[in-house]
Amino acid sequence: MVRLQETIEVPRPIEDAFFYTSNFANIAQWDPGVAESSRISQGPIDIDTEFRVLVKFGPRSIPMTYIIRVYEPPHRVVLEGKSDSIYALDDIRFTAAVNGGARITYTADISFLGLIGYAEPFMRRMLAGVGKNAIRGLQAALSADPPPPSQSLWTYLQDRLILPGMLGFTNLGYYWHHRSWKPQALSLRGKTAIVTGATSGLGQAAARQLAELGGRVVLIGRNPAKAAAVQQEIVSATGNPDVAVEIADLSLLAEVRQLAQRLLAREPRIDILINNAGVLLNERSVTAEGIETTLATNLLAPFLLTNLLLPRLKQSAPSRIIDVSSGGMYTSGIVVDDLQYQQSDFNGGMAYARTKRGLVILTELWAERLKDSGVVAHAMHPGWADTPGVESSLPLFHKLTKRLLRTPEEGADTITWLAASREAGKVSGYFWLDREPHITHVLPGTQESAEDRQRLWAALSQLADWREAGG
Ligand SMILES: NC(=O)c1ccc[n+]([C@@H]2O[C@H](COP(=O)([O-])OP(=O)(O)OC[C@H]3O[C@@H](n4cnc5c(N)ncnc54)[C@H](OP(=O)(O)O)[C@@H]3O)[C@@H](O)[C@H]2O)c1
Repeated sequence: MVRLQETIEVPRPIEDAFFYTSNFANIAQWDPGVAESSRISQGPIDIDTEFRVLVKFGPRSIPMTYIIRVYEPPHRVVLEGKSDSIYALDDIRFTAAVNGGARITYTADISFLGLIGYAEPFMRRMLAGVGKNAIRGLQAALSADPPPPSQSLWTYLQDRLILPGMLGFTNLGYYWHHRSWKPQALSLRGKTAIVTGATSGLGQAAARQLAELGGRVVLIGRNPAKAAAVQQEIVSATGNPDVAVEIADLSLLAEVRQLAQRLLAREPRIDILINNAGVLLNERSVTAEGIETTLATNLLAPFLLTNLLLPRLKQSAPSRIIDVSSGGMYTSGIVVDDLQYQQSDFNGGMAYARTKRGLVILTELWAERLKDSGVVAHAMHPGWADTPGVESSLPLFHKLTKRLLRTPEEGADTITWLAASREAGKVSGYFWLDREPHITHVLPGTQESAEDRQRLWAALSQLADWREAGG
């Protein structure tokens, strides 16, 4: 048997250190000796929770199963790892440090089984190096403030060249970028996130990821049965019982208002608002309130809901608004004089692009207006992800690009990162894809003037019959 033991200190509180480290689904983020890691068992992390960990071993990878044997939050976790050729017992102890951080003592007893066992004495030094790298990775994931986000040279070029830019929207773009992401222990314990459009695709994936990080998540859906099924799915997948549902048809301003009232009455804090619900409609339709449906759902609803929830976001500061736009917005500027698309033949893709452009402008306006309030605003686009929405609205595109589409989880990754990462709490008003800020105009003629932006705000205020307090 080889025993490896290391002690580190990290600035994060003991609870963060414990929950991040004991969830071995995270280990591939911080241990360079691990190729992949995932949770096998559902439900809350506890004794008997199982993880699958693919350990790099020379040119091979060895699949191991780790099971939690002792679970004493936030002080100790013991995991037993097994494969045909390796047995490991990881005993990890946590104590609170004086500076509000945590001290972690990590002891790993590793035995090699069968013939490979004879090589154990020769592997001691190699294992000591592997252990040191792992513990350094854990320390980095739980450590000091990362630098403010910046754009890589590749992303800068990609944004300016149409074809590489579009390749970046595919799963290839995701794979390319995610290799360079630094490990970071994300936690949303004690925070409340509101997610619109949580009953399908990206919203559902984001809600699941947020629940996995320990936050309270309020799912906004329009279909009660579907919302209840998603709530159940997320609770049983993550083991986080704090997942609530609110029902509203967001294309109707009256329902947005009632929703905001209920949220203000029921949620003592709102730390994160994710405006994700959206539609791409191939035929023009008008809501019962007389507003073109794409505009009502994609732009007016986020405008009104965010403004109505702002007092609570401010009280809960530091807090975040996250607007899910689309790469489709690159194809259009805002058309303030025809928000309802009445002056030319309706084109569903263009109507969608205009509203998503509007949402990016709104995000920038919120970022300006909320400067120094502790509330940051982010717009993002998920790339192209395989969701029920894409399949039904763009069946041909879906068929042709299916193999290049991201999973909903990959598309939702940046939503979750914007909600939880420390970097994203420090900046405001950017447009993100794959955890990097991107330019908002590529094609000529899409740039709006400062006056257009103010007119957009005024037109939405009028359509939503919303007036700022004191305004
Ligand atoms: N998937 C992509 O490649 C992609 C790319 C760029 C941007 N986006 C954006 O990402 C967001 C999520 O899209 P998705 O692909 O996940 O689509 P999706 O699978 O169709 O999900 C859309 C969600 O919005 C909800 N929704 C739509 N209209 C609503 C209304 N009137 N009231 C309340 N909820 C409503 C839907 O509810 P139901 O479940 O009841 O239908 C669903 O939960 C959208 O804003 C979309 O524009 C997606």
